[in-house]
Order: sequence, then structure tokens, then C-alpha cells
Amino acid sequence: TQVDKAGYKHFMAKEIAQQPTVLAEALGAYLKGDEIVLPSPGLDFTEVDRLVLVACGTAYYACLTAKYWFEKLARIPVEVDIASEFRYREPPVTKGTVALFVSQSGETADTLAALRYCAGRADRIASVVNVETSTIARESDLALPIHAGVEVGVASTKAFTCQLNVLLLLAIKAAEARGRMAAAEKSELLAQLRALPGLFNAALDRDGAIAEAARKISEARDVLFLGRGMMYPLALEGALKLKEISYIHAEAYASGELKHGPIALIDKSVPVIVMAPRDGLFDKTVSNMQEVMARGGKVCLISDARGIEEAGDGIWQSIPLPDVDERLAPLLYALPAQLLAYHAAIAKGTDVDQPRNLAKSVTVE
Ligand code: G6P
Repeated sequence: TQVDKAGYKHFMAKEIAQQPTVLAEALGAYLKGDEIVLPSPGLDFTEVDRLVLVACGTAYYACLTAKYWFEKLARIPVEVDIASEFRYREPPVTKGTVALFVSQSGETADTLAALRYCAGRADRIASVVNVETSTIARESDLALPIHAGVEVGVASTKAFTCQLNVLLLLAIKAAEARGRMAAAEKSELLAQLRALPGLFNAALDRDGAIAEAARKISEARDVLFLGRGMMYPLALEGALKLKEISYIHAEAYASGELKHGPIALIDKSVPVIVMAPRDGLFDKTVSNMQEVMARGGKVCLISDARGIEEAGDGIWQSIPLPDVDERLAPLLYALPAQLLAYHAAIAKGTDVDQPRNLAKSVTVE
């Protein structure tokens, strides 16, 4: 099928905007009522001792997010690694381990090499892929499609949220199988997940505010992203997106690490983008923001309306998002991260869909 920009200026803009639709379809592909149905041969989570998640780039950040879900919801120990590190470290992979590879293209050389290293060592090789005919899908015992549709923009957007969607469903399935989630709780969480496309649409309506913040951020040479808990991987993804397409130097830190180095960089020329829904860790993040502001730092806060209100005065820019269940926040908060990068790139006039030096799929080392 012919893939075009469907009236958008860039593939990336189209792919960002498609997310509510694509996510709804992708969810539907896995649900039969409240049952999460995996493709054959499925996966028996009662027998899993450990999960190893391996990927590169944006897919790696999806894995880092999933670690929180698998550990919190299902109490399965999870290790996450970058494929190029994993493959040469030759870590011990023992029985009881399920090795899970996440790759949009299913052809990334390092991820494939890591998969081949695990074959014969792990109990099961599973993958989360967009291209169902890819090498990684073919060489897995179980391939889980993300159903994102063709992604053209080099900077991954809808594939990321669709990867998160599948990983969350897997974590819920694991939690259920291990007796960690009762039917009522599962059904409630799935209802929230079904409502997520609506929240995405509401967040997309904030595009103007995000573009405005992005224009200001685009004047900076360096940008810091901060997040705690599940927002930490999102901060990493936000920094990656910004680097990839606007060429602004961006780094992400876990908020709690601020004092251990990055605080030395804070001054009025370094915007600090804080991703912080009003969850159980919010108060800690507020004190981190105050530390930044006390040093003349400019905080751009991405939160819900109450979070922005509670953060008080002194915030430089704020991006209000709809309230969302904290377990689902990583999916929704991906959107402002993508849009900030997109609008910063537009402001700088860089090539959004074909950033310099980058490839959509890295099939050589
Ligand atoms: C390249 C792309 C990224 C992608 C990464 C992993 O760096 O530019 O967008 O996240 O490869 O690709 P994969 O296809 O394995 O997800």
C-alpha cells in the first residue's frame, strides 16, 4: 500500500497524530472482551523466573518503561540491556529466563545478534515487532506484533507507544497469571486503557501550547529532561527525540540524580523539562524543581492541571495534560515529548523526517 503524508507536512506529524487511532486498533487486536490473547504459542508466565529485555534506541526506552510494569504489577525480576552491550558481554542466560527483544523494524543488527545469543540458552525467545515478516519475528518462538502500521519518520513515535501498549498488556497478563491482579482490577485497568485514545486526542489539542514552549526551547544549546519512576525512561526518550531531529544537545536524568552532577549545569540558559504527572512521587519532583529554580534554572513542567497548580509560582513554561491513571502515564506523556521535539525541529528548520546521519533501521554494526 502507498504510504503518503495524508495532508500533513511531515510523516512524523502524521504518525504522531495517528496515535489515538492506531493505539485503539492495536489494543483491539489483543483483547477479546477482558481476555488478553497472545498469538500462538502464547507464554506461560507462571514458569518465568526472570525477564531479559533487549533493544536499541527508542525500543530500549520502551523496555526500560516495561521494567516498571513487569516488576510492579507482576513481581517478575527484569533486566534491561542495550543490544550492543548485551551481545558482547555474553551474560549468563539460564533456564527460567524469557528473553524479549523489542524492535520496530525487526532487523536491527545488534538486537538480532543478541537474540541469536539467547537462542538455546533462554527458555523462550519472544519479540515485540512492527514488521511481522522481519528476521527478529521469524527467529522468535513468539512474535508479538505492535500493529503500528508503516512508520516512515526516522524518529520513532507511534511505534514507541504501540510497543508500550503491547508490553503493558504482557505485564497485565503476567500479573494475572501469577495471581497478582484480580479480575476486577484488571478489568478496571483495561477500561482505562480503552479510554486512552480519548486522552491522546485531548492532549493533541494542546499542540499550540507545546509548539509555543518548543519555540522557546529551540533557542537553547543544551536542554535537560528530568523524570522519576516510569517518567525517567520517558525523559530519556524525550531527550533522544530532541537530539535526533532538532540537533539540540539534550540529556535526561532521573530526578533524584539531579544533585549528583547535572545541577552543576543549571543556569538561565539551560531549560529543564520536567515530566511529572501528579503521582505518588510528585512531591519529590517538586522539590527537585525548586532546586532548579533556586539556581535560576528555567523549568518547563509537563503535568496535569493539579500538578501544575501545586507546583506553584516560578515555572517558566507549563504543558497541561489530561489526568491519567499513573500506570498509563508513560503512554500519554510520550506525546508531548514527541511534539516538543517536532516543533523545536520546525523552529530550527531541520529535516524532520530525514535527520542527518541517522537511519530508520540500523542493519549493520
Ligand atoms: C534506529 C532508529 C530508531 C530506533 C532504533 C532501533 O536508531 O533511528 O528510531 O529506535 O534504530 O530500531 P528498531 O527497528 O530495532 O526498533
